[in-house]
Amino acid sequence: MQDSLGKPLVRVDGRAKVTGRAVYTAEQDVPNAAYAVMVTSSIARGRIVSLDTRAAERQPGVLAVLSSRNTPRLPQKPRSANQGDRPGDRKLQLLQEDTVYYAGQPVAVVVAESLEAAQEGARLVEVRYAAQTPSVELEPSLSRAYKPAQGGAHGETTDDARGAVDSALASAEVKLDRVYTTPFQVHNPMEPHATIAIWSGPDRLTVYDATQGPFPDRERFAMLLGLKPDNVRVICPYLGGGFGSKGPTWSSQVLAAIAAKQVGRPVKLVVERPQMFGPVGMRSHTRQRIAAGARRDGTLVALRHDVTAQTSSFDEFLESAAMPTRMLYAVPNEATTQRLVRSDIGTPSFMRAPGWAAGVNVLEIAMDEMAYEAGMDPIEFRLKNYADQDPEKSRAFSSKSLRECYRLGADRFGWSRRSPEPRSMRQGDTLIGWGMASAVYPVHRSKSGARAQIAPDGSILVESGTIDLGTGTYTVMTQVAADALGVPASQVTFRLGDTAYAEAPISAGSQTATSVGNAVAAAAKALRAEIARAMNAAPDAIQIRGDRVIAAGRSERLADLIARRGQRFLEADSEAQPGPEQQQFSMYVFGAQFAEVRVDAALGQLRVSRMTGAFGAGKILNARTARSQFMGGMVWGIGFALYEDAHMDPRLGRFVNHDLAEYHIPVNADVPEIEAVWVDEADTHVNPLGVKGIGEIGICGSAAAIANAVFHATGKRIRDYPITLDKVI
Ligand code: MOS
Repeated sequence: MQDSLGKPLVRVDGRAKVTGRAVYTAEQDVPNAAYAVMVTSSIARGRIVSLDTRAAERQPGVLAVLSSRNTPRLPQKPRSANQGDRPGDRKLQLLQEDTVYYAGQPVAVVVAESLEAAQEGARLVEVRYAAQTPSVELEPSLSRAYKPAQGGAHGETTDDARGAVDSALASAEVKLDRVYTTPFQVHNPMEPHATIAIWSGPDRLTVYDATQGPFPDRERFAMLLGLKPDNVRVICPYLGGGFGSKGPTWSSQVLAAIAAKQVGRPVKLVVERPQMFGPVGMRSHTRQRIAAGARRDGTLVALRHDVTAQTSSFDEFLESAAMPTRMLYAVPNEATTQRLVRSDIGTPSFMRAPGWAAGVNVLEIAMDEMAYEAGMDPIEFRLKNYADQDPEKSRAFSSKSLRECYRLGADRFGWSRRSPEPRSMRQGDTLIGWGMASAVYPVHRSKSGARAQIAPDGSILVESGTIDLGTGTYTVMTQVAADALGVPASQVTFRLGDTAYAEAPISAGSQTATSVGNAVAAAAKALRAEIARAMNAAPDAIQIRGDRVIAAGRSERLADLIARRGQRFLEADSEAQPGPEQQQFSMYVFGAQFAEVRVDAALGQLRVSRMTGAFGAGKILNARTARSQFMGGMVWGIGFALYEDAHMDPRLGRFVNHDLAEYHIPVNADVPEIEAVWVDEADTHVNPLGVKGIGEIGICGSAAAIANAVFHATGKRIRDYPITLDKVI
């Protein structure tokens, strides 16, 4: 069947999206809604000394101007106490104080009858500051680096060590000790952060909110505003991308609710594009030192990876880039440290493959360098150091198809035709380079719920309060439910994006298919059992055929079955959660990335001309949406390698290229032939469906493959992303 599990069913929400019928947060038609615009700090550090709102208040249409002068004090203390329990909860600036911690911090909110009046009002707010010199750069502040209290985004430790890394490095026959950097990168999904807040009475709040996690978002609104979580409803049927930016709840979202209460009307607040650069999370600039040692035959004996990243002055987020070094290769002596430097910037946060993307894309340049030092083919070098079990935790991987990924990727790419010498594959004035890298990202899974329901006409409704970032959740969950019930996908409607539905975890860490998928499968199976009970048959014996159920030669109308039960439909709730296997096995998605670049020998102009990614990612639920996820990550790899660079002005403490004209990402003309393929992988340890998650693996290693291809083309090793023309010539 074209629509059964794994098949390339077209997106069930595709038509709604391309015809504009999919209603995104900012487009929700809420009667009587007023518009809010944030005034944000122009300085990066200091104090507000005066705030003149009179001109703004006189502007026709302006309803209110909120600032630290008149905003009600929240139950939580500012600055230190408003952090929630989860590492993803960011500390917010909600007009509670006059201290400025970073450029772009909200200092006032203007609410008006129209967007234009709110924008004009925002322009008229006069803020005077006592500015201090901000510290926003990493390199001059390395001596202030400290060991963070919390570890990585998922609670990983800051440091690890096994064996005796220093002596092993000292005595290694082949070695390397280098510093690599990655720049600030900023998410900027097409849809910016957007919120519409609607109060009903003093303690009931409904928010249309662009969020990756309706349930954690609800918790944050409740906690910060002193409400009961049950009295807050978060709705988000469509999300225009996120990449991690919409994981945490940010100041703008809560300010919309505060403003709505103040003016006694629903309020819509959409973050402006320049306000997306810095105040709402980013991937931190990192400095990564890697030291590696090997025997003459290429056997790694020691690996050391020391990471320093930036965090804000008031909150902590660690870009845990050393994680892959602990587990990717079978190296007996290993040590990693991860440190932070406090800076006068907005708090960095989760961004597609947090920690891992920055880490793998650096480690895999270092491994390419080691392969050259040892005089080995880069794949041969990696196979020599292949980890058959997890060297960090000394336990088995739930599954690992990396060998097959190397083979499949190399085959599709034509790797055997590569000549190893740099600058050896020239075509006229064009230098051609082929590079490869390993890819790895952890498997995450959290407890999730779902509900399934069948109506007398046979239509099946499945609900879970999860999110579709554009990744394909609507489509794959429809397939999972249809598969478990043995019906065509067209018989199933899947609804998501509402805290009125069963609780689901945040869509982050590539965990939606692993978590919600298994909950949906469980709910569909439970519904099947419910139908079987009504039929007096065994669950495996029933077949749903349109509006009839067949069992052991009997055929009954669903309408009769349901009526006999005295109900309007049959339904089942289910919850699925990770089992003990999570502690017994190490669970990762793996892959092999290949890239071809073409460099103009005279001008240094650089283009990626071809990419192949081969992945071992467990059971693939939908070949079309999966390919799109892998490719999306690989395209980001092009941006990571060649373009993305949020450039900080050290005097002003602001990103100077804070728009999509100056912050470069790949456009169609930059994206070549990209092939994403995968190996069949059945992993029953990860979860019943055998799903590993695919949202983030594509960005891991893809930038390194390009960097390595640039070296192969030019003989020039660039260790600072992005690899721009000036660094190549
Ligand atoms: Mo993803 S960066 O874990 O939302």
